[in-house]
Amino acid sequence: MIKPITNMKDAFSLKGQVAVITGGNRGLGFGIASAMAEVGADIAILCRDRAKAEEALAELAQFGGKYKSFDCDVTNIKSCMAAAEAVTAEFGDIDILVNNAGTSCFSELLDMDEELSDWYKVLNTDLNGMVHMTYVFGKKMRDAGKGGCIINITSNASFIVNKTQPMSPYSSSKAAGNHFTHCMACELGKYNIRVNAIAPGFVNTELSRFIPADQFEYINNQMPLGRFGESIEVGALAVYLASPAAAQVTGTVQVIDGGYILSC
Ligand SMILES: NC(=O)c1ccc[n+]([C@@H]2O[C@H](COP(=O)([O-])OP(=O)(O)OC[C@H]3O[C@@H](n4cnc5c(N)ncnc54)[C@H](OP(=O)(O)O)[C@@H]3O)[C@@H](O)[C@H]2O)c1
Repeated sequence: MIKPITNMKDAFSLKGQVAVITGGNRGLGFGIASAMAEVGADIAILCRDRAKAEEALAELAQFGGKYKSFDCDVTNIKSCMAAAEAVTAEFGDIDILVNNAGTSCFSELLDMDEELSDWYKVLNTDLNGMVHMTYVFGKKMRDAGKGGCIINITSNASFIVNKTQPMSPYSSSKAAGNHFTHCMACELGKYNIRVNAIAPGFVNTELSRFIPADQFEYINNQMPLGRFGESIEVGALAVYLASPAAAQVTGTVQVIDGGYILSC
C-alpha cells in the first residue's frame, strides 16, 4: 500500500526521487523537468538531440541536484532498454517516469502517401513510445519493489476533433494513451505504481510557434481563460501527480487547457 500523507509538510516535495523524462530536453518536457528539479527531484532526460539536452542540463544546474541526459529513441524498444540500463547504472532505482516525447503531423488521412508514413510516425512515437517505456521502466519499478509513478502526456486533442488542423494520427494516439493509462493503473496498482495522464491544450512551445496567426487568435478567443498555457504550468501539475499528496490518485486523465475543450 502507498502510505497516505498525514499533514501538508513536504506533501508536494520530490526530494530524494529520481525522475526519467522522455523529451525533457525542450518544450513541455523541459517545463516538467525544471518544475520537478525545483522541488528536489534528480532528473534523467531521455532524448535524441544531444545539443539541446546539454542546454537543458545547464539550465537545470541552478536547482542543485543530479541531472544527466541519455540517448534514446522511444520508437525503438532496444534503445529504451539500453537507456534504462544506463539510467539505473547512474541513478539507481527510479521513482517517476514521464512519457512526454511526442510528434505530430497536420494532414488529412486521404492526402497521406500510400505507406501512411505520417500515421505510423505519430503512432510509433506518441503511443508505442509510451508503451515501450512503460514496459521497460515498469519492470524496473516492479522489480525494485518500491512502487513508483508514471505520467503519460497526452493531449486535449484526445477528446475533440481539432478544427484548426487535421491530425487524426495524433488525436487517435493520444486517445489510446488515455485508455492505456487506465489499463496500466489497474495492472500496476498491485506493485504500488500509480499511472496518470496529463492532457494539455495549447502550450507555448516550439511546436505551437508554427500555428498561423489567424488560427492563434481563433484559439485564444475560444478559450475561456483566453491564453495558451506555459510549460511550467504543466510541470506544476506533473509535480502534484508525482508527489506524496497524490498517493491516492491513479488512472486519471487531468485536462489542463484553459477550458478549451468546453467551448471549441
Ligand atoms: N505544445 C503543445 O501545445 C502540446 C499540447 C498538448 C500535448 N502536447 C504533448 O506534449 C509533449 C511534448 O510536446 P512539445 O510541444 O514540448 O513538443 P516539442 O517541442 O516538439 O518536443 C518534442 C519532444 O519529444 C522528443 N521526441 C520526439 N520524438 C522522439 C523519439 N522518437 N525519441 C525520443 N524523443 C523524442 C523530442 O526530443 P528530441 O529533441 O531529441 O527530438 C522533444 O524533446 C508531446 O507528447 C505533445 O504531444 C503538447
